[in-house]
Amino acid sequence: MIYLDNSATTSPKPQQVLDASARALRASANPGRSGHRMSVEAGERIYSARKTAADLFGMEDETRVIFTPGCTFSLNTAIKGIFSKGGHAVVSNLEHNAVMRPLEALRSEGVTYTAAAVYPGDDDATLDSFRRSINVNTKAIICTHASNVWGIRLPVERICALAHAYGLYMMIDAAQSAGVLPLDMKDGYDIVCAAGHKGLYGPMGTGLMLLSEKADIPPLITGGTGSGSASLIQPQELPDRFESGTLNLPGIAGLEAGISFVSAKGKENILRHEMSLVRRAYKGLSANKKVRLYTPEPDESFFAPVLSFNIEGVDSETAAAQLARRGIAVRAGLHCCPAAHRALGTLDTGAVRISPSAFTAARDIDRVIQTVRELKF
Ligand code: ALA
Repeated sequence: MIYLDNSATTSPKPQQVLDASARALRASANPGRSGHRMSVEAGERIYSARKTAADLFGMEDETRVIFTPGCTFSLNTAIKGIFSKGGHAVVSNLEHNAVMRPLEALRSEGVTYTAAAVYPGDDDATLDSFRRSINVNTKAIICTHASNVWGIRLPVERICALAHAYGLYMMIDAAQSAGVLPLDMKDGYDIVCAAGHKGLYGPMGTGLMLLSEKADIPPLITGGTGSGSASLIQPQELPDRFESGTLNLPGIAGLEAGISFVSAKGKENILRHEMSLVRRAYKGLSANKKVRLYTPEPDESFFAPVLSFNIEGVDSETAAAQLARRGIAVRAGLHCCPAAHRALGTLDTGAVRISPSAFTAARDIDRVIQTVRELKF
């Protein structure tokens, strides 16, 4: 199987991830709950993973790295926290349902939002569009770092400066970008939500919420933290404020190994490798008259390594099923992101998405190009 569905979850995982998770499963106790050796060691593993994640994202204070069950959980925590007392959000027109559904759910509580159009290749126009979407009730700009459908990359450094000029929170959905695109909390982001199982090569069921010193939000869930147990009030200290219940130690241990894999390879090398693959795919597919591409040739200043296309007259799910039958795994349909499909006019058909990882080879891409050429409908 040629696996090109890495935007959904990276596969395979590096061997060190499998080993770290298995080790943690084989001998682990509840971290931070008891004074016996196994529990203390489990707590130390969690601390080490927190430190490793903090280093990757340029954070000095590892207590501001919050472990969550996934990026969706992180986004819900942050969105419902920021807007617990109402307000207006500015989002992009490429946001995933993990951002849009929490915002829609808050409508009944008076929360509103405006979707700013993104202009790939024209950051000034994108900035202007975000600026025009801000109003007196705006509390935050929330945007994806890169579209999970089109790979379109947003100028997050400039959007962050804009947010701060208006006194707003700047929050990033880094589901597709963590481990691939440059992302440093020293650049001033207030909240960054990331998946552990995509570009960070960790197991599913892991996620991160990175908080700046300024980010002051309530938790989504409360409960046992192993700290301040005599009180019925949730501890305010980080990370306990957000980490009620037993942490996913096997997942977090695997995530640490995944982050170490990314650091050892170098994010910039992974990005260069994956971008060369999507450019190769773009060139090969654009030579095929039956293929429709929707974005310009991906250049890394404006794109992340994700590419979607359609075959003329063929529903994207049908095309993906044909590719699967020939041993190629891709994702088609709407990718939980109707907004991005609406933006580029593919809401009716969906699109076929290919997303490489550090393990994808040029010959895999050549097989896709060749197979698409051979498909008969
Ligand atoms: N959001 C993930 C994707 O784009 C699951 O496939």
